[in-house]
Amino acid sequence: MLKLAITGAAGRMGRALLEACHNAEQTQLGAAIDRRGSSLIGTDAGEQAGLGVFNTKIVDDISSVSSNFDTLIDFTHPDATIENLEVCRATGKQIIIGTTGFTEQQKQIITQASKQIAIVFAPNMSVGVNLSLKLLEMTAKVLGDEVDIEIIEAHHRHKIDAPSGTALRMGEVIADTLGRDLTQCAVYGRQGQTGERDRKTIGFETIRAGDIVGEHTVMFAGIGERIEITHKASSRMTFANGAIRAAIWLAQHQVGLFDMQDVLALND
Ligand SMILES: NC(=O)c1ccc[n+]([C@@H]2O[C@H](COP(=O)([O-])OP(=O)(O)OC[C@H]3O[C@@H](n4cnc5c(N)ncnc54)[C@H](OP(=O)(O)O)[C@@H]3O)[C@@H](O)[C@H]2O)c1
Repeated sequence: MLKLAITGAAGRMGRALLEACHNAEQTQLGAAIDRRGSSLIGTDAGEQAGLGVFNTKIVDDISSVSSNFDTLIDFTHPDATIENLEVCRATGKQIIIGTTGFTEQQKQIITQASKQIAIVFAPNMSVGVNLSLKLLEMTAKVLGDEVDIEIIEAHHRHKIDAPSGTALRMGEVIADTLGRDLTQCAVYGRQGQTGERDRKTIGFETIRAGDIVGEHTVMFAGIGERIEITHKASSRMTFANGAIRAAIWLAQHQVGLFDMQDVLALND
């Protein structure tokens, strides 16, 4: 049985992860952690998530429970994830990183840590989104520079980063396929006298509203036709189940940096 620790246990994804861990046959909860000062420290992880008593109290110090788990699943905040990653690196634990919004420097810290421990790092753990990434690669390969490419994403009002990590990942996959550099060709929103569209740009539009769990549409628009590839998540359980699947898959690896394409065997 794989023993998991879940950080941000009182958060939206944390609660979904507790449920997914509880439902999976190959995993059990070893530790639940949340932010120092949270009113839920000391409460039962299962009870606060409305899942019944788990007999695992939420703690605020990951180091104090590091002997209780094999793999950490972290969907929190970039600064918290980097701190938790350091504990995993020092104690030889595996980590699944679902947090989004990292700086380039923080991404380098993750890459560096993967020389010592095994890491799955993916801005979207949903199986459907990762299949969509493969479809985007295929579509970009066939349509090339003949079409205008726009990425439109929508999320709930509480999301703190934009565009979403998933939208950026979609942009990276398309840019890589077309031999473009996303840092040079991305256009984030438009307003005023923008001039004509440059075919080699990739546009991003962001919507933040209500309780939308996560929607992404990529439009490949040519003259006379357009293709739209859309993914809609209706429950956070899709991300949570993907993270559990990643943790089970990662158990066979000692070191390395992997993404969900590796977990789902979608990489060529
Ligand atoms: N990869 C994927 O598939 C996927 C899917 C969905 C979401 N996400 C990402 O996952 C992250 C969490 O999303 P969410 O909707 O669950 O957010 P959330 O509800 O705000 O949950 C985040 C949790 O982390 C805790 N936290 C925040 N800062 C912390 C810190 N410095 N130290 C310790 N704990 C801290 C929060 O505590 P407080 O409430 O006390 O601040 C909260 O319990 C975001 O980056 C989001 O973009 C990824």
